[in-house]
Amino acid sequence: MMTILGFTAFAALFLAQQGLLGAASPTAPTSDAAAASELNTLATALGWKYFGSATDNPELTDTAYVAILSDNGMFGQITPGNSMKWDATEPERGTFTFSGGDAIASLAEGNGQLLRGHNCVWYNQLPSWVSSGGFDAATLTSIIQTHCSTVVGHYKGQIYSWDVVNEPFNDDGTWRTDVFFNTLGEDYVGIALEAASGADPAAKLYINEYNIESAGAKQTALLNLVQSLQSAGTPLDGIGFQCHFIVGEVPTDLQASLEKFTALGLEVAITELDIRMTLPSTDALLAQQKTDYESVIAACRAVSGCVGTTIWDYTDKYSWVPSTFSGQGAACPWDENLVTKPAFDGIVSALS
Ligand code: XIL
Repeated sequence: MMTILGFTAFAALFLAQQGLLGAASPTAPTSDAAAASELNTLATALGWKYFGSATDNPELTDTAYVAILSDNGMFGQITPGNSMKWDATEPERGTFTFSGGDAIASLAEGNGQLLRGHNCVWYNQLPSWVSSGGFDAATLTSIIQTHCSTVVGHYKGQIYSWDVVNEPFNDDGTWRTDVFFNTLGEDYVGIALEAASGADPAAKLYINEYNIESAGAKQTALLNLVQSLQSAGTPLDGIGFQCHFIVGEVPTDLQASLEKFTALGLEVAITELDIRMTLPSTDALLAQQKTDYESVIAACRAVSGCVGTTIWDYTDKYSWVPSTFSGQGAACPWDENLVTKPAFDGIVSALS
């Protein structure tokens, strides 16, 4: 045994000298100074469960991108930006495809990172067989149950938290009139949560929403929904605050908003943070963006039930912003060349 251990240690030293071991890879922290700016290292030292990033399958061929994403001192959690959504996982009724989601799940596992599942029930990226199927309430109930239990069950044991229901409300606090609400009323939320809970009892079950980061009708609607789910005994563990912000417009009551939900016994997380600007970026905008990232992270840090923050991809190279918000971009803490921006220093400062 001693001989085997001795040989193993010798072999490891040899491989390390050759640069063939993970510990010697360029993505590992190389000094105390490097570790001091590793976001997940800083975040977990504060008691957060993770600092994470979204990613997407097409980007995984970019080795320089993957090297940074896979450094678990930098990112302790990843979220698939698209490949666990309904159109990706059940494009036809009863036909499930998990190849894209599996690739992200094995990346997380290989990197020793937590995984957030995103998402089970959402009006968007929903195949037309669901949205235009004309199903009655009993049939749509069974479709939701099958979808959520199959997808959540497939990843059982691999997921820290699932966004079971995504974006249920309009900005004015009324229910979004998608096929789920139109057919089942608000009951669809509990149907999805129950199915997810049965499929992976250990996963934390979330409702994920945007424009709830500040007091207002939408936030109130979600608070009311939480209370009614809790009265009904429906499983629900957390609320995801998406936090797709605009430079200079981070709500001053973000911390108070997070606390309204932790006061109900839930955990909260910042799930999709990015802070966009009208292009071109200027030094002044980048400086404001640094302040803005710092205040978002400080708000989560100040709330004991805020378990972590996920940025909606770490680099401007793969951000969803320019293709979604015309004329806007530069929303991430790393630029298009995978170089950190002042925003990164703002995050480090808030976590230090
Ligand atoms: C976005 C993806 O990042 C894009 O690649 C895709 O084209 C559209 O969806 N809120 C959400 C995420 O919950 O799923 C969205 O992701 C961004 C807004």
